[in-house]
Amino acid sequence: MIVVIDGPAGSGKSSTALAVAQKLKIQYLDSGALYRAATHLFLKSEESVPLFFETLYKSHFSFYFEDEFKVFVDDLDLTQIIRTPEISSKVSTVAAMAEVREFVNKLMHKAIPSDIYIADGRDLGTAVFPNAECKFFMVANPSTRAKRRHLELLAKGIDISYQEVYDDIQHRDKIDSTREKDPLKQAEDAVLIDTSEYSFDEQVEIIAGHVREAIQQNKL
Ligand code: CDP
Repeated sequence: MIVVIDGPAGSGKSSTALAVAQKLKIQYLDSGALYRAATHLFLKSEESVPLFFETLYKSHFSFYFEDEFKVFVDDLDLTQIIRTPEISSKVSTVAAMAEVREFVNKLMHKAIPSDIYIADGRDLGTAVFPNAECKFFMVANPSTRAKRRHLELLAKGIDISYQEVYDDIQHRDKIDSTREKDPLKQAEDAVLIDTSEYSFDEQVEIIAGHVREAIQQNKL
């Protein structure tokens, strides 16, 4: 049972989904973190695609939500290190590989039946969970998104300039929305939320309101 939020980098999907999950006591699934964990393996394979696939298929991915979305590969906790600029700069290239998408989608489909989830990504409403009970598409203008992401990274102690963050976001948006396999796109039945127009609490409440209604109508 699933609620999905798709949208471009820095639109506020992850923080909003996390806040809604905490508020409604449901599970949170960060699909981007799974692509980032796969990218960690790609870098460890020194960007050799055959070696990467061999490593990917041999690896055991696991994840759970407890205050934050935690992701492990072969019991190694990757939750923090997948946020580095090095991973960010490669993740869209890795996520454009059809085999990687299939791998990540299988992991998500396996988890979902066990609970009520809110998940965020790029293609969840269009390709991965086309029958999701609630769908949202979050957008914000590029400079707002870059400012938010820059502050987040600085708060994590990552030394990076605003311009580097802005360029990374533009670069990823381009790859994500033009790739052949399941590009970033708003689902026809998704509710559009422009987060440049709302405060954080407002956007959390808008989504939580829709989800509560779906729960009351027994859709979830
Ligand atoms: O948080 P942010 O928007 O920076 O990105 P993320 O959610 O961590 O996702 C990282 C990358 O994974 C994205 O730029 C996409 O290339 C890829 N991704 C994807 O292709 N499909 C998804 N459902 C989720 C993420």
